Amino acid sequence: MRYNFDVRAGPISVEWFRGATTNIAYNCLDRHVLAGRGDQTCFIWEGNDVGREKTMTYSEALDEVCRLANWLRAAGVKKGDCVAVYMPMLLELPLAMLACARIGAVHSVVFGGFSAESLAQRMEDCKSKVLLTASGVMRGPKSIDLKKIADKACKLSAEAGHTVEHVLVYENDNAVPAADCPFTPGRDRWWQAEVGAQPPTCAPEWVEAEHPLFLLYTSGSTGKPKGVLHTTGGYMVYAATTMRHVFGLQPGDVYWCTADCGWITGHSYLAYGPLLNGTTQVVFEGVPTHPTPARCWEVVAAHKVTQFYTAPTAIRSLMSFGDQWVSQCDTSSLRLLGSVGEPINPEAWRWYNEVVGRGKCPIVDTWWQTETGGHMITPLPGAWPEKPGSATLPFFGVRPVVLDDKGNELQGEAEGILAIAQPWPSTLRTVYGDHERYQSNYFGPFPGYYFTGDGCRRDADGYYWITGRVDDVINVSGHRIGTAEVESALVAHPACAEAAVVGYDHPIKGQGIYAYVTLMGGVEATKELKKELVGSVRSIIGAFAAPDVIHWAPGLPKTRSGKIMRRVLRKIAAKEEDQLGDTSTLADPGVVGTLVELRGK
Ligand code: WT7
Repeated sequence: MRYNFDVRAGPISVEWFRGATTNIAYNCLDRHVLAGRGDQTCFIWEGNDVGREKTMTYSEALDEVCRLANWLRAAGVKKGDCVAVYMPMLLELPLAMLACARIGAVHSVVFGGFSAESLAQRMEDCKSKVLLTASGVMRGPKSIDLKKIADKACKLSAEAGHTVEHVLVYENDNAVPAADCPFTPGRDRWWQAEVGAQPPTCAPEWVEAEHPLFLLYTSGSTGKPKGVLHTTGGYMVYAATTMRHVFGLQPGDVYWCTADCGWITGHSYLAYGPLLNGTTQVVFEGVPTHPTPARCWEVVAAHKVTQFYTAPTAIRSLMSFGDQWVSQCDTSSLRLLGSVGEPINPEAWRWYNEVVGRGKCPIVDTWWQTETGGHMITPLPGAWPEKPGSATLPFFGVRPVVLDDKGNELQGEAEGILAIAQPWPSTLRTVYGDHERYQSNYFGPFPGYYFTGDGCRRDADGYYWITGRVDDVINVSGHRIGTAEVESALVAHPACAEAAVVGYDHPIKGQGIYAYVTLMGGVEATKELKKELVGSVRSIIGAFAAPDVIHWAPGLPKTRSGKIMRRVLRKIAAKEEDQLGDTSTLADPGVVGTLVELRGK
């Protein structure tokens, strides 16, 4: 390993396994097939609709990946080129990621819930000329025309001067059959016909350990989303190792992670970690409450799932429907439960433990980030006692520190900012196209450390308790959303003069999105306008970023230098205006009273 983690000593750089070459798709598939495990089930796919199921062995997965890899090569994709992937949770999504990796191409998966604008922005940033997508997707009872959104994104990109040359469309006929799917001859191709015609073998491209593997865009406190870049060797070793130890893998296990491949969890603990370990896993297209809140437990019972990994928001949502949905199913195959994405409140932890796990399953509350690539602070099952709500202790080789706001390391029991003092194998290597931003964002705030953006408390036993983001990022249902992004989507509406967005406690989502909006002079504040403003955010970012509350704000609390005091806005949203703290720097203290009066209007 060679690295510089200190901006004062020159450019930040992290390198692992210098001089080594590998191919991660080979390690995920060929290695198992060559060892005689080709007939083992790789994927058990559960569609959105009950009864739509399929399984795929490691040999079959390898064939499919090779066919798609051949198609990508034929389409002119070369080592190092970026391929955009905008797909629902069909098996073709993880297979597409592996196909890119097989030929040394860099995948950029964009979550299917993102809007055309968001997809376009990401395709332009990483200059992907090839887009892999599907005709549509079912989400519970609703069908979504994914291809129409993809088409709009290509059009927006073209207007911005970037041409998407090839679009490969998977016909997901239960949602949108080919006949109902828009198709641009010349640019678009049907996946099933084209890929099916390719040969099922494809020589892997051996790449250097530091060859880029993927980009994944994530929100920060300012500006547009950052393309987090992960490279091959370190990421591969770390995903495989954490997967094996944190989930206590045993031969014969059936593992299920409910994350979408559009997020980092679906990269490290669905597409890569399980396959690197030769695991059999469930891939779920649907939503946990469709058609009933028993769906997850029915799937667990049907496939004898041994490890189940999900987000606290899903646990809270299922908990709210009552215990009977769990107890009517046989969940006795479960041996371990995992939680990821946001702090888990002790009440949800206990329900997960007692009702789902029948008090018999260790719970691994895994703290990590898109940027860290893999688990950082997490229980190791059976190795040390758990505490509900704590991610417990660092994984091997991870050196977390608690800093005060001047960057001094605090010792023993302490509360402050969580930072990491040395690189780990899957450290993000850069922000795509902007190494400067990488350095200033992650290494600038506290020189010598990687800044996580989270606050935390370390207790007397050395356990870490994540207290949430300390920057202007909110965590809604385990999805990271930059308040600045939501604000600019609101301001894009012609009626909106100014917007300020904060998070507030939400019983299911963890945090909800609370938006203060100042209207243009003469515009009337109506219910319809609220809907339009929410619609503006949906169409610019995606439905999951839609504000839960719009609060009319004739004025915003600002300091004399014009800076919005978000602390005050958070207190008003939480109905805690009696605990505003020091407001002496407010330019106009009267604003607070006006806002309190307008709450709920
Ligand atoms: C942020 C990272 C990690 C994959 C999914 C989210 C929060 C994540 C936990 C946890 C408390 C958590 C943090 C972190 N977070 N896991 N177990 N306990 N908080 O990845 O979108 O990059 O978000 O999610 O605030 O910084 P992400």
